[in-house]
Amino acid sequence: MLTFNDPKKLQAWSRLRRSKGEKIALIPTMGYLHEGHLSLIALAKKKGAKQIVVSVFVNPVQFGPNEDYDRYPRDEKADFAKCRKAGATAIFFPTPKNMYLDGHSTFVNEESLSQGLCGARRPGHFRGVCTVVAKLFNIVHPHFAVFGQKDYQQAQVIKRMVRDLNFDVEIALAPIVREETGLARSSRNTYLSDVERHDALAISESLFALRRKVRKLGKLPATAVEKEIAGHLVKNDLKPDYVEAVDAETLAKTDTVKPGTAVLVAAYCGNTRLIDNIVL
Ligand code: PAF
Repeated sequence: MLTFNDPKKLQAWSRLRRSKGEKIALIPTMGYLHEGHLSLIALAKKKGAKQIVVSVFVNPVQFGPNEDYDRYPRDEKADFAKCRKAGATAIFFPTPKNMYLDGHSTFVNEESLSQGLCGARRPGHFRGVCTVVAKLFNIVHPHFAVFGQKDYQQAQVIKRMVRDLNFDVEIALAPIVREETGLARSSRNTYLSDVERHDALAISESLFALRRKVRKLGKLPATAVEKEIAGHLVKNDLKPDYVEAVDAETLAKTDTVKPGTAVLVAAYCGNTRLIDNIVL
């Protein structure tokens, strides 16, 4: 597996691989890799990529001033070993300095899907995500890029950016990977104490219960669903940031929860903000 730090070197390598007709996949990550990330590599393999490039970059511009940029978990050595074992062919560890050159002043803003949900609570977050993902697309010029459905809003925003800006890349989405308990895998789970880890199960529990209910009843009023999930979270010592039923593609709020609706949750478990979702 090759290691790159310099965007220009990766760009030149990728251009050469592409010119040889090799199919290139990009997996953008912030590192501290877990089973969820490894499932993205597995999907890239399954889709026939000859070159699988994993980028590991804790992107400063997608964090707000009071967020966890400084303490976000990092372990380059472990990430390298996991990528190699999973079959990635290149790993990209850029630095904030070589990704954002002095005087960097160009950003990408998606102005619709990024407005609500996490976008409303984390101003500037999706501007940072779109900017770094656009840069990665230009550096790697992959045939396709793989993202996880756990960051549901992010995936929709990136799909929209790709459509609107005519990026020559296919976006593939991989299902949420959960621990045996149901907890959605996330690098931020490492912040949780044992008690918090237990409390956090209320999120997936309430989403699975909703799925059972929708299977049985077909349709439910969104306000009642949102209230019930938020109540279950509070009962388990979580602080809901939002619980919203939305159209799975436009992310517009919906009155009725039915098959095809996406229900997105963000909640604080102690100081840790967790997200999860279900598409019914
Ligand atoms: O989902 C993430 O880990 C990040 O938001 C991403 C897509 C790698 C951009 O920094």
